[in-house]
Amino acid sequence: MERIRIAKPWISNLEISYVQDAVSNGWGEKCYTYIKKLEKRFSEYLGIKHAVATSSCTGATHMALVAMGVGAGDEVIIPETTWISCASAVIYAGANPVFVDIKEDTWCIDPDKIERAISPKTKAIMPVHIYGNVAEMNEIMDIATKHNIQVIEDPAEALGAEYYGRKVGSIGGCGVFSFHGTKMATSGEGGMFVTNDDELFNKFSVLHDQGRVSEEKRMFFPHHIGYKYKISNLQAALAYAQIERIRELIQKKKEIFNWYSQSFSNFDNVKLNYQQKYAKCCYWMPILIFDKPINIDQSGGLIEHLDNHGIDSRPFFYPLSSLPMFPKQQQNSVAYDLCKRAINLPSPFCITKEEVNYVSKMVMSFLNNSN
Ligand SMILES: Cc1ncc(COP(=O)(O)O)c(C=O)c1O
Repeated sequence: MERIRIAKPWISNLEISYVQDAVSNGWGEKCYTYIKKLEKRFSEYLGIKHAVATSSCTGATHMALVAMGVGAGDEVIIPETTWISCASAVIYAGANPVFVDIKEDTWCIDPDKIERAISPKTKAIMPVHIYGNVAEMNEIMDIATKHNIQVIEDPAEALGAEYYGRKVGSIGGCGVFSFHGTKMATSGEGGMFVTNDDELFNKFSVLHDQGRVSEEKRMFFPHHIGYKYKISNLQAALAYAQIERIRELIQKKKEIFNWYSQSFSNFDNVKLNYQQKYAKCCYWMPILIFDKPINIDQSGGLIEHLDNHGIDSRPFFYPLSSLPMFPKQQQNSVAYDLCKRAINLPSPFCITKEEVNYVSKMVMSFLNNSN
């Protein structure tokens, strides 16, 4: 059996034909064709007014924060459990991340704990729709409105997930997505900024174009210090094909998740991603939660055991405040607890039902032997 990778995209002939077209013809007057097509298709899919493609989600987040007016000394509330890029982007903007604990069931920021983290310096809240799950946006938007704070959604891991029928990323003031190679839809590396807010879109567009403003008729005459976080037409061709196929991609992830659900259904000491009643999870990554802490990432732990059997897996995100760069915030107890008893299971688009059963068998054999 070939090694089972944590994630791999699904590249069909459509992706290959668009990339071939972009590399053969996408130059000169056609050098932005696929970028424009991608942005239009993405905004239609999300049901949002503006979409701007970027070189990464991290870059999109950084520019979005600057466009929102987040700067030196400000604070941005982010979940304790997420990828480091959320904190990095806040710090690139000159501000400080404030970590708030997550919910036991959704693994997204806990709205009940947000208000006590708000200070006069708080400029924004960044809910992250983690592992395809959905943050409680109604509660978050209410808090933001009450305190006059902006909301930037991060659905990098949840493209296609829905909250009360609305696609995540289209609910807050703006949203940021990732097209990294492990994500639901990929361009290799890439990202997307989305918003319904014309003013924010205009500010973002100026920053995205090295500070050039549309009224300026002289070439190479920027009015501001901007950024270079652009996607290439070649990458956009790949992402465009993926977005054309997005429903098929999500359907496949759901099928893989259902295989895992069946496979683990006879075991009551583990559970998989929680399906919220008001939301449609996109099942980007299956997560297995154990009922008590186990050795996950140390020598002799589950990750090593799976690795020895040809299976890639990943730890649940470590709490950001447990990383060496930040002061520890162990009061964020849900985040500190979950990472000791959860693991990311592989879900490359090419995984088979037999391979899923094999992964489950190897997880259970580890648990049985370590009991
Ligand atoms: C929740 C979350 N936000 C942001 C990012 C950053 O995306 P990118 O690698 O495109 O910058 C990631 C990537 O892994 C992510 O998982």
